[in-house]
Amino acid sequence: MSHVLAAVAWPYANGPRHIGHVSGFGVPSDVFSRYMRMAGHDVLMISGTDEHGTPIQVQADSEGLKPRELADRYNRVIVEDLHGLGLSYDLFTRTTTGNHYRVVQELFETLHRNGYIVAETTLGAISPSTGRTLPDRYIEGTCPICGYDAARGDQCDNCGNQLDPVQLIEPRSKIDGETPNFVETEHFFLDLPAFAQALGKWLDTRDGWRPNVLRFSRNLLDDLQPRAITRDLEWGVPIPLDGWRERGDKRIYVWFDAVIGYLSASIEWARRSGDPDAWRRWWIADTDGEDARGYYFMGKDNIVFHSVIWPSLLLGYSGEGDHGGEPGRLGRLNLPTEVVSSEFLTMEGRKFSSSRQVVIYVRDFLARYDADALRYFIAVAGPESQDTDFTWAEFRRRNNDELVNDWGNLVNRSISMAAKNFGAIPPIDPAGLTAADEALLATSRAAFGTVGALIERHRQKQAIGAAMRVVAEANRYLSDQAPWKLKGEADKPRMGTVLHVALQVVADANTLLTPFLPHSAQKIHELLGGTGVHAPMPRIVEVDDLDVGPAYPILTGDYRDGARWESTPVEVGRPLAAPKPVFRKLDESIVDEELARLTG
Ligand code: MF3
Ligand code: ZN
Repeated sequence: MSHVLAAVAWPYANGPRHIGHVSGFGVPSDVFSRYMRMAGHDVLMISGTDEHGTPIQVQADSEGLKPRELADRYNRVIVEDLHGLGLSYDLFTRTTTGNHYRVVQELFETLHRNGYIVAETTLGAISPSTGRTLPDRYIEGTCPICGYDAARGDQCDNCGNQLDPVQLIEPRSKIDGETPNFVETEHFFLDLPAFAQALGKWLDTRDGWRPNVLRFSRNLLDDLQPRAITRDLEWGVPIPLDGWRERGDKRIYVWFDAVIGYLSASIEWARRSGDPDAWRRWWIADTDGEDARGYYFMGKDNIVFHSVIWPSLLLGYSGEGDHGGEPGRLGRLNLPTEVVSSEFLTMEGRKFSSSRQVVIYVRDFLARYDADALRYFIAVAGPESQDTDFTWAEFRRRNNDELVNDWGNLVNRSISMAAKNFGAIPPIDPAGLTAADEALLATSRAAFGTVGALIERHRQKQAIGAAMRVVAEANRYLSDQAPWKLKGEADKPRMGTVLHVALQVVADANTLLTPFLPHSAQKIHELLGGTGVHAPMPRIVEVDDLDVGPAYPILTGDYRDGARWESTPVEVGRPLAAPKPVFRKLDESIVDEELARLTG
């Protein structure tokens, strides 16, 4: 048993999330957390909405709202989406809480005291017509590194390098095309080069990471520059230093505050649990004689923030960069065990784009299809370690051929045959088990080790493949044994044995699939005569801010009572009724209907 932190990327509260988003950070982190809990680990799964930053300010402006109002709206939408997918967060909160502000400021102050945050005068872009600051990402120009002519002021999407607007050749405003003025302004910078050594050492001890994530992270260390971590913006966490605290025009940069959410959400969870120090078990090495592990889930555009920026903040806070220093009052904090990054999902061969309507939002998806159908597709065909494409035809095919025909059918025919002929789970004939019976039971028992190890190593495609092979074996067994032919009085005990074995393997496969398909796993558990919670679900709770601030909805849950990761013997004599189908077959027409919704 150990303490496992599942740190899930924080979705921006500037719009509803689409299935590309949840295929990267959402479903994989939930599969992992559910499995680790079933295997007996003490999991803390946390996240929230990421609500600061220029994009939210700009969008709020354009809708005539305050940024907080816009964030409130999408925080609620996102909470509902994630709830609908059954994502088992211990706490899904937001970055606009009093608790988060305090923790962000504590890290900023300590990093400043330790010498890792320094003020510098730089050139900031101002719109000549309005006199307002032009945010980095609203400036466009030619990339000084690769020559791409539509690089943004914060980064070049062609070569992937982080940029400063002043580096752009021929800069222009994306809002109205005018050429910005660059004027002197003071900002705080994070001294990233002071962490290069410590980061390199840490990365050298990482094994088992997806090779492209580790390679990408290593490369980032070759060119570390000091990085601005404040902005000319009114929306964000105030800078907690004398002379800056009260200023209305400078705020901490959104990415600096967002990554600290992992820590602040853990602290908020502990405060809400009634044991305000409980978070330490996931963050401080050896608090109770064992190491805690931390896994961070995200899409690949987030890697730099999780393998460079966040570890640097943790190192600096702990006094472990080139300038030394003293750990802050929270103590010496653990670095990530693994940055688990997925690649991108595309939609019918194109990049997701809300503005061009190449998109399907989670809530629209869930209004028409079941959460487990999407979870299944993401698990078997998602962008785990290479970019993959979502097509409606393939979604329908996998749903119908695999989920409904292979798994649903196995569940359905085993239970209905047993219900019809025995009304209950039949006993094993005293004549005993045949070699075929034993072989199938052994296959499903052995799968617990295989599937579990694959999930623990973030090989979820292989893991669900191994679970579905048990299903395929069981279907083959039923065809071979043909229990429907064993109807005569003399054959009936053998029929009972075959169905007993089949039901045992259905129960096992259901447990193996529970991390992936928790909604249907609960139903199948009940169809097998089980009671109580098999796959615990999150709930939405309205809470008061723990410090100062308005109330807000969180996702939380009690996940202790679920099934264990083991083969549990089915109980002879437990009554069975004729089952209702668990999965829905999708008509051919849905493909054209959905394609018609995608325009542009
Ligand atoms: N909001 C970012 C995105 O959607 C992710 C932030 S992850 C965080 O890409 F942990 F840094 F918050
Ligand atoms: Zn470039």
